[in-house]
Amino acid sequence: MAETISLNPNSSKQEQYEQLLPQIEALIQSEEDRIANLANICAVLKSSFHFFWVGFYELKMDQLVLGPFQGPIACTRILPNHGVCGKAYSQKSTIVVPDVNQFEGHISCSSYSQSEIVVPILKENAVVAVLDIDSDQLNHFDEVDQLYLEKLSQIIANKW
Ligand code: SME
Repeated sequence: MAETISLNPNSSKQEQYEQLLPQIEALIQSEEDRIANLANICAVLKSSFHFFWVGFYELKMDQLVLGPFQGPIACTRILPNHGVCGKAYSQKSTIVVPDVNQFEGHISCSSYSQSEIVVPILKENAVVAVLDIDSDQLNHFDEVDQLYLEKLSQIIANKW
């Protein structure tokens, strides 16, 4: 298992994602425990991009339940169609929120969170979890984040 992640800090965000994704794939390749893998993925994303909060909510009994994360404590359960996570789950597609204060129904876990992206993880066309990332800056996430986090979601789904 790779014990360190190498990332060129002078490269663009797109290049950094391209450097990271194969390393994440290698990192989780030989480990079958999902919690261990999701925890390490949170660590890689948080330490590489300095996001405010990175975590997973896993679908359990029709609710999204907090899984591995890095950052401040967060709400533990989210219902379908509630908040950004519940809406991304219900519509089975990524939601990018440039300003959380403008998103109707946003569930605030911290007043520091300003923008957010939620990417569903789809296994056989069913959402099994969502990856939720918060930033303490407005308008942090763009189509590059969406593209590569959706690729990451596919990598995770392949091991689900
Ligand atoms: N903001 C999310 C809730 C989870 S926290 O951001 C960690 C939402 O509206 O679903």
